[in-house]
Amino acid sequence: MCGIVGYLGSSSAQPVLFDLLKRLEYRGYDSAGIAIMNESINVFKTKGSVDDLISVTPDLKGCSGIGHTRWATHGKASSENAHPHCCDTDKIAVVHNGIIENYIELREKLINSGHEFRSETDTEVLPHLIEEHYNNDLESTVRHALSMVRGSYALAAISSNDPDKIVVARKDSPLVLGLGETDFFIASDVSGILKYTKNVIFLNDGEIAVISHDGVKITTLSGKTVDKNIETIEWDAKSAEKSGYAHFMLKEIFEQPNVIRETFSGRMSSEGVNLEVAVPDARRIIITACGTSYHAGLFGRYVIERFARIPVNVEIASEFRYINPIVDSNDLVIAITQSGETADTFAAVREVNLEKSQKFSIVNVPGSSITRESNNIFTRAGPEIGVAATKSFTSQLAVLLLLAVQLGRVRKKMSTACVNDFVYELKQISGKIQQVLNEAHHTKECAQVFADSDQFLFMGRGANYPIALEGALKLKEISYIKAEGFPAGELKHGPLALIYDGIPVVAIATEGVAYEKMLGNIKEIKARGAIVIGIANESDTEIKKYVDRVLRIPDANPWISPLLSSVVLQLFAYYVADCRGCEIDKPRNLAKSVTVE
Ligand code: M6R
Repeated sequence: MCGIVGYLGSSSAQPVLFDLLKRLEYRGYDSAGIAIMNESINVFKTKGSVDDLISVTPDLKGCSGIGHTRWATHGKASSENAHPHCCDTDKIAVVHNGIIENYIELREKLINSGHEFRSETDTEVLPHLIEEHYNNDLESTVRHALSMVRGSYALAAISSNDPDKIVVARKDSPLVLGLGETDFFIASDVSGILKYTKNVIFLNDGEIAVISHDGVKITTLSGKTVDKNIETIEWDAKSAEKSGYAHFMLKEIFEQPNVIRETFSGRMSSEGVNLEVAVPDARRIIITACGTSYHAGLFGRYVIERFARIPVNVEIASEFRYINPIVDSNDLVIAITQSGETADTFAAVREVNLEKSQKFSIVNVPGSSITRESNNIFTRAGPEIGVAATKSFTSQLAVLLLLAVQLGRVRKKMSTACVNDFVYELKQISGKIQQVLNEAHHTKECAQVFADSDQFLFMGRGANYPIALEGALKLKEISYIKAEGFPAGELKHGPLALIYDGIPVVAIATEGVAYEKMLGNIKEIKARGAIVIGIANESDTEIKKYVDRVLRIPDANPWISPLLSSVVLQLFAYYVADCRGCEIDKPRNLAKSVTVE
């Protein structure tokens, strides 16, 4: 949530900052601003998108500056509340991602000392605090100011009294520095700077960096020098571009055959599955995650219990600490997250630190905060820019299948023959996803028929139940249609009351133990007037007799077909939203990475 950027180098800062902001816009898009250092600081900001900002900003000279794209927390979306925020004399400008928890108290003190505030934000206390304590050195003043602040921050500050520097600091919000030959970049996440450099330094909590033309100097908040590794990001810069697709979401849906190939690469052999981390044996597994990643976790429960016979609990990360979880050293906690920055998932991982149980994370973004708190299995989906998670979800499902097989083998719950058969099936997934994508026009045509509906229900059984939840989430987040997913067996316990004449219901009716029961459920809702869109296997000749429309997936092992159904549901949501003219990559009120609780 919120993207901060910065640049210092030999080129004009303005076009670089605009480009970085556009690349990070998925982190927040209700207002944006830049501050460029020339002899004084020039600040331009506006409510709206980065394009709106570009249209109101004149050509500015200067080779360093900072920028921000906002997702409002404290104060409405407006140009006053947009960052950068400045002190009274406009000699200091700050961009910030995070929350200053004690800002009310700090603001009152600063007002009593004569400072005048121009916004409703928590962030504005920072430039005033730096101004109040300015000691002719930006770095040490920022350090001093931060000692008075409680909360989370990734921030960048510039001062016209110290014009050849940008000072950045991090606590509980992501921040990465990109190192070019003579240019330095600052961004909230790596996909922003990939076009410019693959050499990065991830700042840790409690670290301050000073960027100048001489290089980058990093210290702790208490002033100790820190030697940091320069890491090389292997992601292809092109993977963060739209490459001719109308939306990032569509591009990312179509990337899935390659993504799954990459997720599996080097992890399957004639001996079975070899994930790079030694997965500890456990009496019980607790999976914790949010949103789409939580749905992947629910799927994980089905496959791990089935193949490895280990009991699995799946917990919503934002509730984890309130459960006061009973975990001990016999338990294995697995966090699932695309971004590796979700505040609630991160907090849950830290909660586990206190409990001393074993843990690891299934994560997509290298170098992200969560990766530094645990061992990790990377999903290798590449940068996911669309706010609606797509390829990250199927890659999480793929990793969970690998994990289930590995655990099943280690615990001797799967025979070698069984493992080999399953690995053979896993190797077919990419090709089958490609087949689904080749038939996308059928899903598009179906989506266009139903695009005006104001409600949808999604139902599935077994491992298809989490996929029904995910199908509903995809549709609601990008098309704003009320959509609910539920396990079909629960129909008679409540959801049946929602059925009325003409309501569209998506029923995942693929081959598996619950197939006949699903047909029974479809009959029940049809009898009450629902229009049913069935997702079924290619070879299913029965389904046509039960449903109004069929979306086909290739025949596949029932533990694998959820990946294929997921792709159909992603396409369905995409085409419905497109038909309704929605801003697909920038859904209302949402942002990609939820770094505040
Ligand atoms: O980065 P994470 O996987 O931790 O994010 C969790 C959720 O915020 C995320 O999956 C969200 O629900 C997506 N917008 C869904 O498309």
